[in-house]
Amino acid sequence: MRPTLNDTGFMFQKRDAYADDFIAFAGSCAEPVLEVGCAYGVATQPALTAGARVVACDLDQRHLDILWDETPPDDRDRLEIVQGQLPYVDFAAEHFGAILCSRVLHFLDGSAIDASVRKMFRWLKPAGRLYLVADTPYGIWRNFVPTFEAKLARGDRWPGLMIALENWLPRSSSTANRPIKGPPFMNLLVPELMVRCCEEAGFRIERSGFIDRSDFGGLGSMDGRENAGVLAIKPA
Ligand SMILES: C[S@@+](CC[C@H](N)C(=O)[O-])C[C@H]1O[C@@H](n2cnc3c(N)ncnc32)[C@H](O)[C@@H]1O
Repeated sequence: MRPTLNDTGFMFQKRDAYADDFIAFAGSCAEPVLEVGCAYGVATQPALTAGARVVACDLDQRHLDILWDETPPDDRDRLEIVQGQLPYVDFAAEHFGAILCSRVLHFLDGSAIDASVRKMFRWLKPAGRLYLVADTPYGIWRNFVPTFEAKLARGDRWPGLMIALENWLPRSSSTANRPIKGPPFMNLLVPELMVRCCEEAGFRIERSGFIDRSDFGGLGSMDGRENAGVLAIKPA
């Protein structure tokens, strides 16, 4: 785990199957691909190695500077770095063959998630592939699970919206309820919420499901549902 510089958690050096699929596709894709919320380029670097042309976008210019410095000089002519923030950043319509947005959407409120996914639909070429991965309540935020499941059952549109994060982390009695360094809120997701969001934007769902990230480690027992992933296709 490599910490971000802006208190948005960690970049996991060990990739999941969605990132691996994105990288494999990117290597054979004629069009450029986009990694948004790339941090230090967990998928950008191997996609470049595979021969892809990559636009790497992140909220924090410091992450992008490190990515640039760590990119082998021979790969830099196929790398473009763009500082930008979802849902405000924008790219040309029908520009990318694939997009990976891994572990970023849960930092956005519901309308910003919907707006971001609608933009990604527009940025993709027909038949383009969108890979989304997000944090669920079933990882480190599992104290929030009963609240989340009650809201999901009653049909809340964004049941994972969680403020006062310090109330939901597993903590010792001496650290309980002390403010933590981090984002002002999280909006935890599960596959069915991500599928709804993609379908409403016009995508066809190729696959979706929980992702076992019990290798998050060190924070008590995990149950194999720590992340959620979707592979969504823009109709040709
Ligand atoms: C938890 S890290 C995920 C890094 C990597 N994608 C991964 O899967 O391990 C979140 C990254 O997303 C970036 N980020 C957070 N909010 C963002 C936003 N609204 N738009 C673009 N990037 C954002 C952060 O700067 C950070 O680099």
